[in-house]
This record gives sequence, C-alpha cells and structure tokens, in this order.
Amino acid sequence: MAIHSLSVFAEDKPAAHASTPAPTPNPDPYANETKEQRDARMAWWRDARFGMFIHWGVYAVPAGFHKGQPVGGLGEWIMHGGKIPAGEYKPYAQEFNPTQYDADAWVSLAKKAGMKYIVITTKHHDGFALWPSAASDWDIEATPYKKDLLKPLVEACKKHGMKLGFYYSQAKDWINDGASTPNPNPSRTMDEYIDEIAVPQVRELLTNYGDAPVILWWDFPTAMNEDRAAKLIELLALKPGIIHNNRLLKIAPYGKVDMEKIKSDKRDPYSGDTETPEQHIPDTGLGDRDWEACMTINDTWGFKSNDHNWKSSKTLIQQLIDIASKGGNYLLNVGPTKEGLIPEPSVERLEDIGKWMAVNSVSIYGTQASPFPKLEWGRCTQKKHNNGTTLYLHVFEWPADAKLLVPGLENQVKSAAILANNEKLEFKKTPEGVELQVPEKALDPNATVIKLEILGEPKVTTPK
Ligand code: GLC
Repeated sequence: MAIHSLSVFAEDKPAAHASTPAPTPNPDPYANETKEQRDARMAWWRDARFGMFIHWGVYAVPAGFHKGQPVGGLGEWIMHGGKIPAGEYKPYAQEFNPTQYDADAWVSLAKKAGMKYIVITTKHHDGFALWPSAASDWDIEATPYKKDLLKPLVEACKKHGMKLGFYYSQAKDWINDGASTPNPNPSRTMDEYIDEIAVPQVRELLTNYGDAPVILWWDFPTAMNEDRAAKLIELLALKPGIIHNNRLLKIAPYGKVDMEKIKSDKRDPYSGDTETPEQHIPDTGLGDRDWEACMTINDTWGFKSNDHNWKSSKTLIQQLIDIASKGGNYLLNVGPTKEGLIPEPSVERLEDIGKWMAVNSVSIYGTQASPFPKLEWGRCTQKKHNNGTTLYLHVFEWPADAKLLVPGLENQVKSAAILANNEKLEFKKTPEGVELQVPEKALDPNATVIKLEILGEPKVTTPK
C-alpha cells in the first residue's frame, strides 16, 4: 500500500518530469537510416574490394633516422619512438619540399593496380596538416612547398574516376597543444583542442574539396569520449553519403576485431560503417559487418629509408584474394618520400598486382565471400546472378595429379574454364564433390582462377 501511494505521489508531481533532461539527439547522421539506404550508400565500397592507403607527411623527412641514429618502430611514429621534442621535430618541415609530387602519377598507379579508391593521411599523429589549414600553423604553409597537397589529388582522382577518402587523426596529436601532447603544461584542454583544431579542420576537409572525401578514416581515439566524438560525427552531415570507420570513439589495439561486440552490434552511434583490422586478416569474415584490412607492403606506413622488408607480389595478390574470399576490402599502403615519390619497390609490386588484376579482376570486384569453410588449395569468391552462381576458384597450390577437387559442392555444374584464357575444363561429380580436370601446370604462379558456373545458390556439405 505504501508503495502504491508512493508511485501515485510521484505521478502527481509533473514538475519532476519537466525537469528530466530531454534525451540527447543521436548525433550520428545515419542514425535513422534503413537497411536499404545503408546498402545503397555502401554499394560502391563493397564492390571496390581494393584501395590504396597513403601515409605521407613531415615524418618522410627523418625517414626513420634522428640525429643520425636509426629510430625503431613505425616511420610515422618517429616523433614518439625517438622521443623527439616538438622543437626538434618541427624544423624537419623545412626539408619537406615534395617538388616531384605528381598526383596524376599516383592515381594512375593505383588505377593500374586495380585499386578503386584512395585514402590519404591528411593529418597524422604528428599533427601536421597536408593542406593550408586556418586552424593551425602546423601545416603545409610551414614548409618551403607551401601549396595544398590535397587539391591536386582531389583533381587527379576526379579525372581518373577514383574515389578519395581522408584519414584524420582526431585525438592523437603530438604538436597541436591540448590533445595527447607530450607537453606537460598544455595551453589548451582536450575539449578546447577538439573545438579549436579537430572540429574546424574536419570541417575544412569536408567542405573545401568538392565531391571529396567519400570516406572519413578516423584514427586514433586516445582520450576520446562521447561528447568529443559527437562534435565530430555530426560534421559528417556536411557530406551526405560519406562512409566512416570504427575508430572515432574507441577501438581495440591494432584494430583487433571484437567478434562478440560485432555479433551484438546494434549500431551504436560511434561504431561507424567499417571494421578496420590492421595488419591481419580475420580467419573468417565478420558476419554482416563491412570490413577493410589495412596492410603495409614493408613494415611501416610512413616512409623509412631503412625498411627493405618488402612482401612479395605473390603474397600481396594472395592477400587481396584471401580478403575478398572473406567478404572484406584490402587497403594497401604506400609511404611516399619527402620528394613526393612512391618508393620503387612499392611501384613494382603494385604493377605486378595490376598485371594479375588486368586478367582476373572480375573474380574480385563485386564478389561475395566464399561458400566453402576451407579450401586446401586456395580460395573462392562468388557472384550470384539470375540463372545461378559463378564461383571463382583461386588456386594457390596446383594439384600434382592435375585433378582439382571442389569439396562438398552439390550443385549441378554448367561449365568450368580457366578465367585468363577461357580454356574449357572437364568436370565430373564424385562422392567428395566436383572434380575438375586441370592442365598439368598452373597458368599463373600467383593464383590461377577457374570460373565455375553452377545452377542455383551454392550448396556445400562439409565432410564429416
Ligand atoms: C595505427 C597507427 C598509425 C597508422 C594506422 C593505420 O593506428 O597508429 O600509425 O596510421 O594504424 O591503420
């Protein structure tokens, strides 16, 4: 009874209700998006499968060395790794004079490699802005070069039909005071940093470059909180349709993927559109979440003159295939020099990938993840169409007996052929699946693709 009267009492007090704060509006411009709207917005990105990451800034000047000594770790982290104070780091800007920068050549190279989009670091953790920013003097105007580096890239991308995204380090900033600065007595608070640097700069990036950017690649959420993230996410409304990643508010170290969170994801406002596994490829896909694995060609993102640990073209091609077979995108990095050149070993590898893509790209673009849990000899991607499904079998390990088993495949096969030269292959059903009679030797040492046309959606039984 006492309880009942208490609740009546509470309801009788409208003033208490009136003083309850109104729920904060969700700052995510996509909060009320339907699945159809989201699918339409993500369509180009899902089809693309392959993009170029560009890490470029003043760190290309020390290029892994400070005071003649090599500094370990990532090239773009040299300020941190070498404990270089701002007063010693800023003079490097005097040597940042990329007179050989040719945005058209970069975009042409990306295009030749088969890449469909580019993401460039407009400002990395050293806080340096590649464009003349009204919010900070620590920008391209502090160099002898002085001219905006983003504009030519925007123009070249437009000319070549390449999509362009901007990476922006929204919270980790070792030079603009107030963020995660090494300065023990910063002149600004973190909130002031967000208001005075991050928000105006992101606004500049979203409003000064015509149709670009189509992606905002946040990194890295040190000391972020919801209030700070809200001020940034709401700016995305300036570029309807823009895609953004999961690194605005929080992220597991190294882009490690939290599968439990993904499975339970109710699209919290700061989880963004894409997961960003870094330097690793998840064992399986990530369910309904869109994802993009970012990887380096050697061991650094920003240029280091002493990093010669280049992956082979074959490794890179197989990574691209592996990622596509799991339903993800591959964002492959280049780290240009202070002169504005993409290192030659990167160019050679991108050209090799391009040669493979020139023949096989239909097995990558617009494909979906493999229907097979595992294939001993390689990977598979698929495309569904009206009359059935095209399976693209990417053979990494060529069968010594020239018989390729597609394990557990139950569908009726319409045709089988080598994608590169359209050579028809014999096939037969066996109790284990479908067996293809293939040539003695692999056509392509990187990956030979076989195009298998089947009726209906793939039905695969897993061996007991
Ligand atoms: C990490 C590093 C950064 C790099 C990024 C790329 O977050 O801090 O240097 O830009 O990964 O994913």
